[in-house]
Amino acid sequence: MALLIRGGEIVTAESRYHSDILVEDEVIRAIGRDLPAPADVEIIDASGKLVFPGFVDPHVHIHLPFMSTFAKDTHATASKAALIGGTTTFIEMCCPSRNDDALESYHLWKEKAEGNSACDYAFHMAVTRYDARTESQLREIVRDGAASFKIFLAYKNFFGVDDEEMYRTLTLASELGVITTAHCESAELVSQLQQALLADGKTGPGWHEPSRPEAVEAEGTGRFATFLEHTNATGYVVHLSCVPALRAAVDAKLRGVRLSIESVLPHFLLDKTYAERAGIEGMKHVMSPPLRDKRNLSALWSALDAGLIDTVGTDHCPFDTEQKLLGARAFTQIPNGIPGIEDRVNLMWTYGVKRGLLDIHRFVDALSTRPARIFGLAPSKGMIAVGSDGDLVVFDPSYRGMISARTHHTNNDYNGFEGFAIEGRPSVVTVRGTVQVSDGTFVGQSNRGRMIRREPQYFNHEASNDR
Ligand code: URP
Ligand code: ZN
Ligand code: ZN
Repeated sequence: MALLIRGGEIVTAESRYHSDILVEDEVIRAIGRDLPAPADVEIIDASGKLVFPGFVDPHVHIHLPFMSTFAKDTHATASKAALIGGTTTFIEMCCPSRNDDALESYHLWKEKAEGNSACDYAFHMAVTRYDARTESQLREIVRDGAASFKIFLAYKNFFGVDDEEMYRTLTLASELGVITTAHCESAELVSQLQQALLADGKTGPGWHEPSRPEAVEAEGTGRFATFLEHTNATGYVVHLSCVPALRAAVDAKLRGVRLSIESVLPHFLLDKTYAERAGIEGMKHVMSPPLRDKRNLSALWSALDAGLIDTVGTDHCPFDTEQKLLGARAFTQIPNGIPGIEDRVNLMWTYGVKRGLLDIHRFVDALSTRPARIFGLAPSKGMIAVGSDGDLVVFDPSYRGMISARTHHTNNDYNGFEGFAIEGRPSVVTVRGTVQVSDGTFVGQSNRGRMIRREPQYFNHEASNDR
């Protein structure tokens, strides 16, 4: 059945205007005023509402074996939470440990998602070891449509790669024309600092931040950029949290390194005092890189508004209170991660756009259009244009509510943003023309989502000219 969204105010990364949108056979067929309604059509009245392109979350963890446990969501729970929050496509990190086989893991991740997601999804493939089989396996994975890599410079002996492995991954990525995303913290420095703090009897969650100080993230960011420069590869720093790391990344951009910057929801809204709270309250706010000193937050907002920070993801990573308590005796054992897949759009809208810290077009760009472009999902995703997928968010700016674990949909017993007010929320959300959310409630098909296969992008102009 066709879908006609009538009378809304369309807001994209570039423009803002009143128009109707007609979706047929999954894609946008027409945009214009007073479009005629075809015979068999579902009409949504969007008057008084904003209409955004479906939001794209470039960084989520759903299936995740990590720190002796598993993240709590399934694709069913995470995708519904995503949709209720306006996210119509997410990119999941496929993260085998160093001891796992990359190709087997990739198939496992795909099996977990297939038929179980209500929204569309894609994968970043984490390279957590580089041995004799890695190259051919990665070529196969890229051919299958997971055209981006992930490396961790942190998490020694688990996900972390050494410099030789980083070099080899980036060299292959450069040849294949795929982008490499990176968690930029020095694993060795973190490990040494953790041991020193524990030896001093400093065991509570408040010591997590001092064990991975800003300089450690800046070092990782700068090193990643230098390796990109010398391999002619294209990179993307995930979850950048602080000014020194931002300086390192921007300095690389100025040198001409092809590097994009992502920061994630918690780093815009929460500071390190949340993790310094006693006991379980602090543990709920342990993630890496850690929540930072408050002075970083306003710098991140400014850099985002100016477009120096390219994208906003969530790094959605739900561990419940029982799992967080694994770290009751030592902060190093607290499973790292804060969920947010449902809250990104509403919180960035409320505390960014509504508070005057973030231009509305930059909001759409950072949360939808730019991640779609950077990761090869555009023009199907991230834009409202004839021919793009019918992924649309009819957003009600008059809604007033509050974030709470009592009402959220992710499979977790706490919410790191508990009690935060929201001033607006998606009222209708569509995936390729199917209404999946209505009046803020999931009403759609649990298996509507499909894997979006992406082509390599050949960022390297010289190499692409040779092809
Ligand atoms: O604390 C975090 N960020 N947990 C998820 C794993 C990662 O580093 O992205
Ligand atoms: Zn990370
Ligand atoms: Zn992550």
